[in-house]
Amino acid sequence: MEAVSEAFFEALLSWYARNAPDLPWRRSRDPYHIWLAEVMLQQTQVATVIPYYERFLAAFPTVQALAEAPLERVLKLWEGLGYYSRARNLHRAAQRVVAEHCGRLPQSVEALRKLHGIGRYTAGAIASIAFNQPAAALDGNVMRVLARLYDYAEPIEKPEAQRHLWQVAERMARAAPSGSAAEYTQAMMDLGRDICTPRAPRCAECPVYAFCRAHAAGTQALRPVRTPKAAVPHYAVGAAILYNDSGELLMARRPLDGLLGGLWEFPQGQARDSESPEAALQRALREKLALTVSVGTLLTKVRHAFTHFKITLHAYHCHAEKPEPRPLGYTECVWIALEDTDQLPISRADRHVIAFLRTDRARLF
Ligand code: ADE
Repeated sequence: MEAVSEAFFEALLSWYARNAPDLPWRRSRDPYHIWLAEVMLQQTQVATVIPYYERFLAAFPTVQALAEAPLERVLKLWEGLGYYSRARNLHRAAQRVVAEHCGRLPQSVEALRKLHGIGRYTAGAIASIAFNQPAAALDGNVMRVLARLYDYAEPIEKPEAQRHLWQVAERMARAAPSGSAAEYTQAMMDLGRDICTPRAPRCAECPVYAFCRAHAAGTQALRPVRTPKAAVPHYAVGAAILYNDSGELLMARRPLDGLLGGLWEFPQGQARDSESPEAALQRALREKLALTVSVGTLLTKVRHAFTHFKITLHAYHCHAEKPEPRPLGYTECVWIALEDTDQLPISRADRHVIAFLRTDRARLF
């Protein structure tokens, strides 16, 4: 049976009507709420997103409130979600929506895509879910659903495959019954997340298995075809725990552009080639803060995975004769009491170091 058919949409949409989970952003049709949820859901699972979404909206109930907030507060509410460029882009886009669209999100995919952080997927998701337009929203989950429905045998990372799958997604979005765009988009997302899972898809529970060519051919476990990923590099990073005479810690704020942009951290540097983390730390503090330090005992090691690489953060107690840092490679730096670091936006790895310091303090003093 053809996937783009009345019977397919009937089976999918009636399954969605019976099974859709009650998610906070589904109780709303406010385009700002849908936008925020879609940005948070770009790289993060539903269960993780829910409390962040609720806290964020409690702090910034409108686009206007978000636009007027300092970036630091926005980053603080994003702390722990990762991919912080999402928060910076959301903030910039909110300012543009206020300045150029009277605080209301535009409705067309083209206008949405002009906003920071809104790509083809997010524009399609907002246009269909918030404005009920027949726009395609193709994320990794939905790509897997389509690759199986059509038993698509090309590696899906290839540009031709992406083009093809977007065309299929657009054709399906247009073919969905008029007025059902919001339900159709979300049904495909739920199907991908909960039924058409990467490993061991639950075909017996799938409302549209009868339309699935991979199921008919028995190839569902082989779809989508992926090109093998290159090994992820692993870097050592040395971080300095440095106190002043008042017992305050030195923290530094990363440049706004780039990884973890705008977040605060223990001053740190990534080891090059065969450099040790201690040497990387000393070099980074010289280059980025004009500080010469001696490296003492290792407090803790923390591993953390980013999208394209991993790090092991080595946090050392350090000492400086005259600690007068100048933020050359950081946007600013501050001496701060350990308790007060809770107010700063800080990445997950550095938060672990803080948690460790809290238990270690009894031994230090
Ligand atoms: N994943 C991405 N967008 C989603 C949504 N609106 N609901 C549930 N899961 C999603």
